[in-house]
This record gives sequence, structure tokens and C-alpha cells, in this order.
Amino acid sequence: MGERLKLVVPASTSNLGAGFDTFGLALTLYNTFEIEESNAFEVEVYGEGADNLPTDINNLFLRTYIRACQELGVEDRPIRVVQKNGIPLGRGLGSSATAILGGILTAAELNGLKLSPKEVLEIAFVFESHPDNLVPALVGGFTISATEEGSKEVYFERLEFPEELQILVLIPEFEILTEEARAVLPAMVSLKDAVFNIQRASLLVAALVRKDFDLLRVAVEDKLHQPFRGKLLHGFEPFKEEAYKMGADAVFISGSGSTIGVFTRKNADEIGRFGVEMYKKMGIPARYEILEADKEGARWAKI
Ligand code: HSE
Repeated sequence: MGERLKLVVPASTSNLGAGFDTFGLALTLYNTFEIEESNAFEVEVYGEGADNLPTDINNLFLRTYIRACQELGVEDRPIRVVQKNGIPLGRGLGSSATAILGGILTAAELNGLKLSPKEVLEIAFVFESHPDNLVPALVGGFTISATEEGSKEVYFERLEFPEELQILVLIPEFEILTEEARAVLPAMVSLKDAVFNIQRASLLVAALVRKDFDLLRVAVEDKLHQPFRGKLLHGFEPFKEEAYKMGADAVFISGSGSTIGVFTRKNADEIGRFGVEMYKKMGIPARYEILEADKEGARWAKI
């Protein structure tokens, strides 16, 4: 038996309005994985998803580990994994991305292989075709990613996220599967709507870099996914309207939902409490967290 390893992987929010499948931001909310070589494949899950995540070979971490060993040309020696989940599942906070990266990084670490972020991501794309949670969860910070249909190649840049902005996530107690949230999107968009998004996505990057926070509200507007997904989220539009009245700088659907993301310089708690009350009136339990940007991404830690 070898040593026990501990891997910490951050949550992430993605899309951030106009940057559909492009923008991602790592958050200070984590899943941790403790790994040791064992006689059989086994997983223990604690925290979020403990009651319904598979603990056998169907577990996403294990599936990714085994596939990564194949891709890397090494033996898939059995491992025991203790998975402690702080990230709620199916809420657009990148929970699956943590398990996918975990499996790959473990396969490399146990075999003494050093992989570049691009090499890790190439294997990750076997399991998830969108880069926008994988990239920030791997490298931390605010990320801009580009991929091409049919290719495993990913191009990305990582920027620091401004410390002046608080990141509020309003998390309702219902899950939205990414596949379902993609199924409601039109296959074709008009040139007018494509231009609308290019303008705003570009503006968002510049506004964050130059700390021109008054532009954020316009920069997170989007025509490609939020107008269609807002309906799945129930409270998105009314929450957005009220959060802006309370001083929020940006309100957007986190990934494919169900979480709503807010950037704000003020009243974060009040906005969060309003959101929880709003959902309560609809009979939907919800909670909020005020987070920061994670700067490091996935990392090995001391047990
Ligand atoms: N960008 C994806 C979507 C979610 O909005 O469907 C994260 O991969």
C-alpha cells in the first residue's frame, strides 16, 4: 500500500451571462478526495450527494481514474477514495468537473506523471465536452476558454478576479441537469443575437480587467441561453430585478442552473436573504453563500 493523498478541487460558476461555454470562475467552495491504493475499487461519499452518488465502479471519479489510466498507458491499480463534497450537485457549480479532474490528476500522481493543464483537459473532455467549469476548477481564477467541435484542443487564458467584488451564489433546493438545460436552447441563433453576445462577452472581460464595475450589468446580458433557461429556474427574472434595485453589479445564471450568481460591491447578505425569502414564498427551500474567487485551482494538500 502506498501513501494517502488528498486532493482539493474548487467549485466553479460558468457562462457568467454572455460567455456561454466560455467563461468560468473558480470559487472558494470545495470537494476533497482522499485516495489510497487498495485491494478493490471503493468510494465513500460524505456531504453533498452522499445519499445518491454511486460508490462502486460507476462513480464518476473512479470512471475517470480508470479511463485516464488507459489514456496514460498505465495500470489502473485499485484505489479507495473518500470523497467529501462541499459542492451541491446539479446546481451549475461544477461538481462533476471536480470528480473528473480528480480522477485524472490521481491517475497521473500515482504513476509519477506530470501533466500540463492542456494534457489534463484533453482527457477530461472525454467526460465533459464544455471547458467552462473544467478549466477554472483546474487552474483557479477567472478563465476564458475556446474549444473546437470534434477536437480535443483547448485554448485558454486565466485572469485574476477583482477582489472588490463579492460573489454571491443563491442555491435553490432543486437540480437541473445540464443536458435538460441544453435541450431547451435553440440550435440556430440570429446574427443579431450572436453580435449581442460577442459585444457583451468582450465587454465583461475588459470591465473585469479595468475594474469598470458599472459596466457589468450590461456585460452579463445574454441572448443565447438565459432567456430560455430563466423559465426552468422559476425565480430568475424577479430575483434579478430586485437584486439590481438592491445594488448588485451583475446577476446571471450559474452554468446551466439552478444556482443564480451575483457579483456585488454592497448588500450581499441582504440580496442573499431576499433570494431565500423569494424562493420560500414559492415553496422552494434555498440558501445562499458569499464566496471569493479561488486563485489556485485543483491542488494536493496535506492529510
Ligand atoms: N456551459 C454549460 C451550459 C454548462 O451552460 O450548458 C457548463 O459546462
